[in-house]
Amino acid sequence: MNPVPTERSRTIKTSLVLPPDTNHLGTIFGGTVLAYLDEVAAIAAMRHSGEAVVTASFDSVDFLTPVKEGDIMIVEAFVTWTGRTSMEVYAKVSSEKFPKGERRLTATSFITMVAVDEHGKPKPVPPVQPQTEEEKQLFETAPERQKLRKQRKRP
Ligand SMILES: CC(C)(COP(=O)(O)OP(=O)(O)OC[C@H]1O[C@@H](n2cnc3c(N)ncnc32)[C@H](O)[C@@H]1OP(=O)(O)O)[C@@H](O)C(=O)NCCC(=O)NCCS
Repeated sequence: MNPVPTERSRTIKTSLVLPPDTNHLGTIFGGTVLAYLDEVAAIAAMRHSGEAVVTASFDSVDFLTPVKEGDIMIVEAFVTWTGRTSMEVYAKVSSEKFPKGERRLTATSFITMVAVDEHGKPKPVPPVQPQTEEEKQLFETAPERQKLRKQRKRP
């Protein structure tokens, strides 16, 4: 299979943070952020592979700064590396204050998506062709992260 440039999978979702996605402190629920991450990562993996995908795992997610009601939330994801049927997706959440436009990083995570056929059986995916420095660095360091995931999964 021909390598696919990272740019093809890059996916960005921009939303206005409003109730009912906020708690009594006026900040977004962590679970809502995870749902956005999952959706955007899935679209990135679908764009890369041209296949249906399922979420195999989330690496740890640290919420660095709160996203408040009235903020603009930006979730960005792209496929960094692939195995035979799995794709590592790097996803980043930031919040933007309106109208000043200041941006703060809220969370980052690596999410593993697996391409599957109509029976849910894993299917091969094309490799990634990284282009920017960030994409190349994430591509080169991915096998080590995948090794740790395999160790973690072992009972
Ligand atoms: C993910 C899933 C398709 C893997 O199927 P499987 O029969 O275990 O297949 P394999 O062991 O061959 O794994 C397939 C690929 O997934 C990867 N994988 C499986 N579990 C993983 C995990 N926890 N973290 C990272 N990668 C994982 C394997 O390393 C392999 O990658 P490779 O082909 O690139 O080498 C299967 O476990 C599944 O359907 N899980 C439920 C997915 C789902 O419903 N998610 C939504 C939330 S419940």
